[in-house]
Amino acid sequence: MEFVKYAVILLGLLARICSCTQLGAQNWTLTVTRSSWGTVFEGSNVTFTCTIGSDNPNLSVWIEWRHTLFGDEIITLSEPTYVTGSHTLTLTGVSGNQAGYYRCVGSTSWSPAYWNPTTMSGWSSLPLRYRPVYMNKDRTWIGANDNYKATLECFVRSDPQATVTWYGPNGANITEDTDPDRVSIEEDSYQNPYAGYIVDSLLIIDPVNSSTDYGMYRCRAANAIGTFVDHDIELKETGPPEAPKNLAISNNYVTKDTIGFNWEPGYDGGEKLESYYMNIREIPGDFNASNWIQRSLQERYWAYTDLQPDTLYQIAVYARNKLGTSPYSTLDVRTAPLEPGQLDS
Ligand SMILES: *[C@@H]1O[C@H](CO)[C@@H](O)[C@H](O)[C@H]1NC(C)=O
Ligand SMILES: *[C@@H]1O[C@H](CO)[C@@H](O)[C@H](O)[C@H]1NC(C)=O
Ligand SMILES: *[C@@H]1O[C@H](CO)[C@@H](O)[C@H](O)[C@H]1NC(C)=O
Ligand SMILES: *[C@@H]1O[C@H](CO)[C@@H](O)[C@H](O)[C@H]1NC(C)=O
Ligand SMILES: *[C@@H]1O[C@H](CO)[C@@H](O)[C@H](O)[C@H]1NC(C)=O
Ligand SMILES: *[C@@H]1O[C@H](CO)[C@@H](O)[C@H](O)[C@H]1NC(C)=O
Repeated sequence: MEFVKYAVILLGLLARICSCTQLGAQNWTLTVTRSSWGTVFEGSNVTFTCTIGSDNPNLSVWIEWRHTLFGDEIITLSEPTYVTGSHTLTLTGVSGNQAGYYRCVGSTSWSPAYWNPTTMSGWSSLPLRYRPVYMNKDRTWIGANDNYKATLECFVRSDPQATVTWYGPNGANITEDTDPDRVSIEEDSYQNPYAGYIVDSLLIIDPVNSSTDYGMYRCRAANAIGTFVDHDIELKETGPPEAPKNLAISNNYVTKDTIGFNWEPGYDGGEKLESYYMNIREIPGDFNASNWIQRSLQERYWAYTDLQPDTLYQIAVYARNKLGTSPYSTLDVRTAPLEPGQLDS
């Protein structure tokens, strides 16, 4: 049994080395073109075409589309699709969330357990004129107690650049002159070549006086496209944290018996986070209450091992501060199936 296991691992490694160095693979490329040149206005239809370039005109490959706004977070837009010649991605009525860059990536092989496209087109830009989009729309409240500092943030993206105005709980606009000893506005703006103009406006109240400062604040962003867009943020006393964010599989780290994952801090409720707790259950099934594992604030990753192959699991993570616990964030993942001929030894 041990020998079989190592032979399988060795063969797997060889297969990977071969695909990395393209031994025996076809020499081919992917290229993306956009339907219209120049600037695109919000609401238009845009088509990207992914073309396979190869000495063999009959080459067929699996491709998928990817999008990124700033280049850091890359979103996969489609399931791998088997294509010959070329393939299109149509965006109907584009919105500000679709600005940025697009590419197609592909591979000559695909299986449900293994998809690692190594051929990529260059990034094709979508320079879009669009009305303001809030990048921190989830932030609907801020916790700050009496005599502490409160920072309300309005983080918007648009093209052309937006102007931001703050309104207080009494409905009046807030400027640097409203209460100069306690209230200030700090604004930072910069341009991303295709994602648009970013304005980060901070309303800082220091120190907070709960009897006058608590309530609903409004941030209004306006630019020449459309009218304006509002975002409301409530200032109130501190509370339990919000659920951890971006709970996701780490680097495709799912095998037949292991799921590796990580997450990012959610809003802390205005109090320092103390720790995270995580657990796993088979779906269907319940979390075993004695198996919550505590993680420190820095240890925002873990791998559950010794799992069953081809089985659907749910991972949950929550946070705690001195005022209580957050709801869970959950992630449903199926472990990989056993490979054909592989014994579960
Ligand atoms: C692949 O094709 C390109 C262009 O057709 C050529 O420049 C390149 O040398 C080829 N690479 C290999 C490894 O054959
Ligand atoms: C975009 O495509 C939709 C659906 O195909 C169509 O109804 C609409 O008229 C198109 N809009 C423009 C601006 O071409
Ligand atoms: C492509 O396919 C056609 C039709 O099946 C065939 O006649 C042709 O020889 C193929 N070309 C190559 C380069 O394989
Ligand atoms: C803010 O309010 C003041 C006084 O009501 C008004 O003069 C000013 O135009 C307002 N500014 C904005 C940006 O709305
Ligand atoms: C808070 O504001 C109220 C109303 O203006 C005022 O009476 C009170 O003295 C303020 N509290 C502090 C600590 O400044
Ligand atoms: C929960 O986990 C504990 C410790 O791992 C174990 O002893 C217990 O049997 C489990 N309970 C259930 C219902 O699986």
